[in-house]
Amino acid sequence: MAREKVQIGKTLFTKEEIELRLDELAGEIEARYAGSELTVVAVLKGSLFFTADLTRRLEMPVRVDIMEISSYYDGTEPTEDVTLSNYLVQDVRGRHVLVVDDIIDTGATLRAVVTVLRREKPLSLATCVFLNKKSRRRVDVPIDFHGFTLRGGPFVVGYGLDYARRYRNLPYLAALEKEAPRKPARKRPRKKTPAKKKAAGKPKKKKTSPKKRRPNRKKAAKKSTSRSRRK
Ligand code: IMP
Ligand code: MG
Repeated sequence: MAREKVQIGKTLFTKEEIELRLDELAGEIEARYAGSELTVVAVLKGSLFFTADLTRRLEMPVRVDIMEISSYYDGTEPTEDVTLSNYLVQDVRGRHVLVVDDIIDTGATLRAVVTVLRREKPLSLATCVFLNKKSRRRVDVPIDFHGFTLRGGPFVVGYGLDYARRYRNLPYLAALEKEAPRKPARKRPRKKTPAKKKAAGKPKKKKTSPKKRRPNRKKAAKKSTSRSRRK
């Protein structure tokens, strides 16, 4: 399948804005679980950087587990097909579990993760996403913590989020712009200006350089003979 031509567009959240929001978010999480141990389940690969930055801000005891999911493949439109490709969550029974994902769009991915984890009978199960694309929700999943809300649901990249496995490493969040397909240039006949049009009807005159006056030899000869006669 031919990949769309894309480019990095507008920055939506700078590195500094992300860092400030993460400080606040860590405070919200600490307040909720005061004194308890937390088991964070990172939904990879998108939440790689978010989970690393967030958990390092938490001062409470934290265990980290991972789950690998793919649903977007190489495009920008969601597929209903959510694949749990690497399921390494162990021992969440009776624990406070916080699922951490990069973004919630339709909600299908997070619902699949939550469904699997619920079967393990955790003591509590909460969700935390870096970005919330509220207007695009199709599946109802409660979100307990979120970094930012994205209005209008643009496709975004950076800070862990990818397009065709690229741009995850950008330290900021940006909109992804699709380049408009280029139309092949059509050759159009040039328009003739009125002056050119007139000229076009007439046969072309050869351009000649202005004639140089030649000396009239006959006259010159006459003059010289008359002068010589006078002598
Ligand atoms: P959902 O299942 O429709 O909620 O989609 C969630 C998953 O799709 C996320 O975990 C992301 O991996 C991916 N996703 C959704 N929106 C974007 C986006 O704007 N940029 C990059 N990945 C996205
Ligand atoms: Mg993801």
